[in-house]
Amino acid sequence: MDVKQKIEKLKKKRNAVILVHNYQLPEVQDIADYTGDSLGLSVEASKTKADVIVFCGVYFMAETAKILSPEKTVLIPDKHAGCPLANMINIKQLKEFKEKNPGVKILCYVNSSAKIKAESDICCTSANALEIAEKAFTEDDKICLIPDKNLAQYVASKVKRNFIFWPGYCPTHAWILPEHIKKQREKYPRAEVLAHPECSQAVLAVSDKVFSTGGMSSYVKKSKSKEFIIGTENGMLYRLKQDNPDKEFYPAADIAVCRNMKKITLDKVVWSLENMKEEVIVPEDIISKAKTSIQAMLKYV
Ligand code: 13P
Repeated sequence: MDVKQKIEKLKKKRNAVILVHNYQLPEVQDIADYTGDSLGLSVEASKTKADVIVFCGVYFMAETAKILSPEKTVLIPDKHAGCPLANMINIKQLKEFKEKNPGVKILCYVNSSAKIKAESDICCTSANALEIAEKAFTEDDKICLIPDKNLAQYVASKVKRNFIFWPGYCPTHAWILPEHIKKQREKYPRAEVLAHPECSQAVLAVSDKVFSTGGMSSYVKKSKSKEFIIGTENGMLYRLKQDNPDKEFYPAADIAVCRNMKKITLDKVVWSLENMKEEVIVPEDIISKAKTSIQAMLKYV
């Protein structure tokens, strides 16, 4: 039996579903029941009839699935697949910040731990941050979008709201520089440049469009362009090519590879289903508080 057949067999035995983020290795994307962006996958998780969810992504994504589906067993094939951006704020720092800034509203990016979500007013994703900032707050509110400064600056540039910036960032997106975009544009002059809002403002300024990974997927399918330069983690190129075989995709920068996303392998998926590990555990009180901030977001989108 090859590894894919083993996974199929184990999936049936466990009544499991495999959710895979757009940045995962190509062979992992190939065994997915659903491939998508961080929140889309968790919403998918909450709808599934499966008993077990194997989450191929980074830890905060698996935790979000658990928060939305606490009755299900959520497994992550490598518990060390973390998100450095999510780790750029901890609960002590958040509590101190709130004490120093009374009345501040905490808008928490989905790339954050369950504990951070539990202490936030409302959650957002890169797909809906503009909408949430506009609909959930007023011009009088002081908002801190944690932990991503780049996403916050992007939102602040588009909607009339007051932001305090938290100094977090995604190291993978930070590797993409305006010079890379310029070079790729020279090489592929007909290509449209799509960038993720976790990129710096300087990169967004030289890009054509700004999208979450889910937004990129939908846009590329509709666009008349045949070539695209993709400013995000490079796993996205495989997903886009699979969905659009007649179009060409070029990375904005070869270096934009998230090592954490690539920690999940097919062998680890087999191991995970065989041993029911690593189970994602979130304490009940954290689940209920974190769910409130996610549900607050879902009301608007
Ligand atoms: P998306 O929600 O756009 O998939 O982004 C997830 C992520 O972690 C970006 O670095």
